[in-house]
Amino acid sequence: MGQKITAIKGTHDLFETELRNWRWIESEFCKLCLARGYSEIRTPYIEPTELFVRSLGESATVVGKEMYTFQDKKGLSISLRPEGTAPVVRAYIEAGLPQQTAFARFFYLGPMFRYEQPQKGRQRQFHQMGVEVFGLSTPAADCDVIALADALWRTLGMLDTTVLLLNSVGCDLCRPHYLQILVTHLQKYRSILCKECNERITTNPLRVFDCKTSQCRAQFPDFPKIIDHACADCSTHFSQLCHGLDSLHIAYELDPLLVRGLDYYKRSAFEWRAKGLGSQDALAGGGRYDKLVSELGGPEVPGIGFALGCERLLIAMEAAGLKAPVQTRLIDFLPLDSESQWLALRLQNELLRMTAHIITVNLSGASLKTQLKNASKSGVRYALIIGQAERDAGEVICKDMSTGEQKKIPFTDIAHYIQNVCHE
Ligand code: HAM
Repeated sequence: MGQKITAIKGTHDLFETELRNWRWIESEFCKLCLARGYSEIRTPYIEPTELFVRSLGESATVVGKEMYTFQDKKGLSISLRPEGTAPVVRAYIEAGLPQQTAFARFFYLGPMFRYEQPQKGRQRQFHQMGVEVFGLSTPAADCDVIALADALWRTLGMLDTTVLLLNSVGCDLCRPHYLQILVTHLQKYRSILCKECNERITTNPLRVFDCKTSQCRAQFPDFPKIIDHACADCSTHFSQLCHGLDSLHIAYELDPLLVRGLDYYKRSAFEWRAKGLGSQDALAGGGRYDKLVSELGGPEVPGIGFALGCERLLIAMEAAGLKAPVQTRLIDFLPLDSESQWLALRLQNELLRMTAHIITVNLSGASLKTQLKNASKSGVRYALIIGQAERDAGEVICKDMSTGEQKKIPFTDIAHYIQNVCHE
């Protein structure tokens, strides 16, 4: 026997019991997006490395430490996408859409890849569902995007277990001035801050707030906050956003330390945390990126979006006891010989053309007793038994698995009978 091959660390296989909830969140997300005028976009899993270096920032942890990067046979540096925003922006520019439409709304779902230390809720291949909106710079557009996530939590029954955190990370006008103030302040803390934060003082001081070290975090309350140094336009945008959320009855908490880990954000930054989920409680995150389209070679078009981590959402849903509605199997045909198996397959196909119910055929060739036992175990409503006697008589024995009651039904009446009992 050959040696077993196991999945790569930080990746997971998904089977039906887990996939039921996956399909549920994906379909609810798609329904909500389509109903709000978003259109789907699918971009490649591989992109030029430069796309992420230029958009997320060279000093972002995702780029510096977590990307799966390799050279292809022609020496081009390629990376597995660590997130979805930069690829969507690239595709939007490449398709010439900024020149064709005043604004555009996209949604996407799919795997992302980050070389992180795996733990519960943190994987190397994980899945995001996200939206990106182009061409709208008003606080109402921010509200609209946040309201979509809010609607998803509501649909899934998660509204009470998620908290929305909100901040403004300033713009090109006010952020440089704030950064000067922050750096001057951070210099005084050099001996207390960790090695990485000391490096961040020169490479990207805002990233200090991403530090997870408790000693560094303990100093944060003393540090100057970006929101206190926002320019008039950023302040107005932020207060109007808060006002909009209030009017939509969307609850939020102001978090002046929220800076997000990616460099492209300007103004609004937000994150949803799941209550009681432990260290990996960031369920979703997003914000405004008004310069990203032009920085990636497109015209000046504002952008905003968010992405949620599917694995984390599913963990949070499980913790809250939320499960996708299960569709029970309506019929299991139990053929007792090979001739009856062919007949059962024919009847199954005929019925499936008329109904969306789950109808299966047991092709194991096992005894009636074993087949009935399996049907009962899998929660089937009706077992339709066919042996030689039934074939000869042109009928099946229909056993109601909950009452044990049996009835003989002619082949030609099965569909009619099933339709009737389903409407009872
Ligand atoms: P992000 O905060 O890096 O933002 O990721 C969004 C979500 O992906 C996180 O809140 C988390 O739920 C999930 N996530 C991230 N890393 C992992 C991991 N290693 N394992 C499991 N889940 C993970 C972005 O990616 C931005 N592109 C969001 C955005 C869209 N901003 C604007 N538009």
